Amino acid sequence: MGFLSVLGMAQRLVKERAAPGGAVIDATCGNGVDTQFLAGLVGPRGAVYAFDIQEAALERTRARLAALELGGAGWRRNASLTDGEAPGVGETRNAAEPGAAASEVGRAPQRGGREAANGGPLRLVHASHAEMDKHVSDAHRGMIDAVMFNLGYLPGANRDQAVITEPASTIAALKLAMTLLRPGGIVTAVLYPGHPGGLEEAEAVAAWASALPQVEGQAMLYRLVQKPEAPYLIAIEKKSAAAKPLI
Ligand SMILES: C[S@@+](CC[C@H](N)C(=O)[O-])C[C@H]1O[C@@H](n2cnc3c(N)ncnc32)[C@H](O)[C@@H]1O
Repeated sequence: MGFLSVLGMAQRLVKERAAPGGAVIDATCGNGVDTQFLAGLVGPRGAVYAFDIQEAALERTRARLAALELGGAGWRRNASLTDGEAPGVGETRNAAEPGAAASEVGRAPQRGGREAANGGPLRLVHASHAEMDKHVSDAHRGMIDAVMFNLGYLPGANRDQAVITEPASTIAALKLAMTLLRPGGIVTAVLYPGHPGGLEEAEAVAAWASALPQVEGQAMLYRLVQKPEAPYLIAIEKKSAAAKPLI
């Protein structure tokens, strides 16, 4: 039967912690597979922030989610996933992009409880995840159920495999993710030591997670130890106020 894949394990850990009405983050939306998964978990009253530095990735994610809307099931009928003025659809242009100012398009989240703290499910953000704190609404700070990172390059990108996640911005983003999580929330990072640049990044993430004070969170490793080049998962659960001290 074999073990769950690293992506499957990441989704399982997230699924145990994210529920309808919650707020979650896809830190590397790529083709939108994880974004789709997260949107399905939080439903029409939740919020999914999806970041990528490549417009092509945002387009693919937008198309994937829009196609699902046509499926007509559940929240997809209610969730508006198109650009522009549609209520609840947010998109932020990359502030670092020449000539582009950071601006939210779409309705700002309402303040209040878990159910009210949303303005629609999907907010596509054209920016580095190292700036995620600038794009998450005040209502969701410290309330995020899960942040998923799937590092490396955009699958299927022909010209742009040169665009990969980088250790410095990844570590910065992981630190921000921890501040945005609710107690008991989770960060998952799928690491790819087998591609150029991936080993350095994986080792940086592993070192950061290993050094994370236990009062901040509990870090785990999910890895096929006989295959050092295979992708692996690091997950960090933010310390819950009620959690017992770790041994
Ligand atoms: C392995 S892919 C993600 C796959 C995606 N989760 C999916 O389900 O298809 C990695 C993505 O990270 C993006 N990326 C690279 N650096 C980034 C950064 N600093 N901030 C956000 N996204 C970044 C790449 O453009 C690429 O689309």
